[in-house]
Amino acid sequence: MASSKRVLLGITGSIAAYRSLDIARLLRQEGHDIQMVATRSALRFFPRLNGEVFTGHPVYSDLFDAMGGGVRHIELADKSQIILIAPASADFIAKLALGLADDLLSTICLAATCPIVIAPAMEEKMYFHPAIQEHLKTLRARRVQEIPPEKGPLASGKEGVGRLPSPERILEAIQPSLNVSDAWSGIRVLVSAGPTYEPIDPVRFLGNRSSGKMGYALAREALSRGAAVTLVTGPTNIPPPVGARVFQIETAREMEENMHREFPSHDLCIMAAAVGDYRISSPTISKRKKDGKDWEILLCENPDILSGLSQKKKKGQFLVGFAAETEMEIPLLIGKATHKGVDILLANDVSRSGIGFSSDNNDLTLVTPSGEVLALGHDSKQVLAGRALDEIWNRWKPTAPNQVPKHE
Ligand code: CTP
Repeated sequence: MASSKRVLLGITGSIAAYRSLDIARLLRQEGHDIQMVATRSALRFFPRLNGEVFTGHPVYSDLFDAMGGGVRHIELADKSQIILIAPASADFIAKLALGLADDLLSTICLAATCPIVIAPAMEEKMYFHPAIQEHLKTLRARRVQEIPPEKGPLASGKEGVGRLPSPERILEAIQPSLNVSDAWSGIRVLVSAGPTYEPIDPVRFLGNRSSGKMGYALAREALSRGAAVTLVTGPTNIPPPVGARVFQIETAREMEENMHREFPSHDLCIMAAAVGDYRISSPTISKRKKDGKDWEILLCENPDILSGLSQKKKKGQFLVGFAAETEMEIPLLIGKATHKGVDILLANDVSRSGIGFSSDNNDLTLVTPSGEVLALGHDSKQVLAGRALDEIWNRWKPTAPNQVPKHE
């Protein structure tokens, strides 16, 4: 069981609002303190009094009634360690994406700095409407985590995607945020993950076998230590880590643009992405037709993102690179750490079966430009992510826990 957290449970105008009581009950059973805030339309579906009995707190709704002599929305925002909006209606999702603040719940969300998780519930056509999908994309980039709706019978009587998941599923999805410690609180971590895809034409691309699992494991581990995490990721099948700001990219040059934009505002940067070293010189705009002949495709070299970042590195920033090798030669790895300008290089042997690219396991060796070599062992990527962050911490700021070194 996670340590007790103050959870603000936002309820919005969806017919599933009555199910928020079951979510509150489960969270209370787990030992969390629940403060409910309902929108006006949520109160049409939600029994307010039951909510107050279940949680032991008033269910707030109106921005002005809730003032109570103080600035209640700021107080509620500051007190909350996680905000869960379940169900999140189409209207509320739009409001959140646009930054509107015309009721208590939307105002709290604007003032809050804790993780925000939303569980949309609506008719399938509304959920897949481009307006809602665009809003969800905007929210993901702002570190709002979505618990996607499930398929099942909807309020209209039709079957489709749009049902609020079970309280157990919701609890499971927010567990990483509930488990967060504050050991790395105030530290901003930038992680790149996954492969890059270089287009040949609109249909075909040149890619690589990276699954993104190692980078995502590092992002989750940093989040669980209380860091603010930004993830720049190539195409993967992994759900975005709860609480991370996520930027999805395809090509190496898109990754470069995102990493350079984000790097100055982060303290630690881990470049775990498998960046394609080459791109197609002249991708065609329309699909290239078969012509009965062999194709010659000219490739040109992509920028080395990691080396570029190392040149921009300011005092106090810490840079970690990965090395995907088919032969682990230590002198070559030390050379790579040096010429890439990293503080630490984490090397893995991608030729061995059972570890590396799409596997859940890995075998990492830490190398520094000064010649230090440390085997982090063979384990699951999640466990290795923890070991890697411990070793990064030891070398980055051994004497100043919880102090982010200031960089100019
Ligand atoms: N990397 C990068 N930009 C590239 C290629 C790699 O930022 N264009 C980063 C990777 O994210 C990784 C590190 O550089 O952190 C080392 O990647 P690796 O593929 O091992 O090395 P390469 O530079 O591609 O060199 P080579 O494949 O020739 O060994």
